[in-house]
Amino acid sequence: MRKFLGFCAVVGGGFCAAVLAQDAKKEIQRYQQMIAEGSPVELFELQGEELWKKPQGPNKVSLEKCDLGLGAGVVKGAYARLPRYFKDADRVMDLETRLLHCMVTLQGRKREETAARVFGSADRPSEMESLSAYIAAQSRGMKMAPGLSHPKEKEAYAMGRALYFHRAGAWDFSCASCHGEEGKRIRMQDLPVLYKPEHARPVVSTWPAYRVSTSQIVTLQWRMNNCYQQMRMPEPDFGSDTTVALILFLTATGKDAPYRGPGTKR
Ligand code: HEC
Repeated sequence: MRKFLGFCAVVGGGFCAAVLAQDAKKEIQRYQQMIAEGSPVELFELQGEELWKKPQGPNKVSLEKCDLGLGAGVVKGAYARLPRYFKDADRVMDLETRLLHCMVTLQGRKREETAARVFGSADRPSEMESLSAYIAAQSRGMKMAPGLSHPKEKEAYAMGRALYFHRAGAWDFSCASCHGEEGKRIRMQDLPVLYKPEHARPVVSTWPAYRVSTSQIVTLQWRMNNCYQQMRMPEPDFGSDTTVALILFLTATGKDAPYRGPGTKR
């Protein structure tokens, strides 16, 4: 197995995942455990830290003054308290939406340009993905406790819950069509029933994550986008109220789980 993993590091995760998909679910779990030990997540965290401290944009400043909810520049524990309401923007934001906000307001970058490449590729991770790995990692061991008391947080939670069960699109799918019953699987993947706390906890405490099949760091914004594509629905806008509401609903359902990411996914 060790040799196989060394080989994986050379040829990339896609091939290895294909080989492993032939095996039973148990094999995947064992494999995940093994790669978690030598997961490349730390490299993304380091890249993210560099990006956090790097002066960028017309204003030539770093993101170090960005307020992620616990005060300007505080990263420790910030991820565990997201999504939450931000007074300066008068809306609920998840980590990536907030980062985009800081890139625009602090660094003076253009929103459209900055949001143009938020989902990266194996050989070129996006800035957003590395930053999100770095910041999330600073919440390890802390309980997930998103904002749920402000009226706009309550509103977003209710909207996220409604969206989860709302059927739409060409196939008349809701999230619950795939994530609504125990024991459902697609391509060897267990589909968690995300409105149940026992299913949501291990999920929200491990995102963002390293995705072995594509050798990429992926974020919850990406996950929402990808699941909407699977529903044959139009891609939601990055950082839209829809995606933030869903992420708040999922995180609130899985709250109190100690954060132990960035994790490893198929
Ligand atoms: C057509 C089926 C389908 C629908 C509908 C769907 N998903 Fe998914 N979802 C999947 C599959 C398949 C995976 C696992 C993919 C993988 O592991 O590569 C997944 C994974 C996820 C995960 C990550 C789970 C984990 O283990 O970390 C989350 C969170 C998620 N979906 C949320 C949603 C939400 C929210 C919606 C509604 C907007 C939704 N999904 C709609 C098929 C679906």
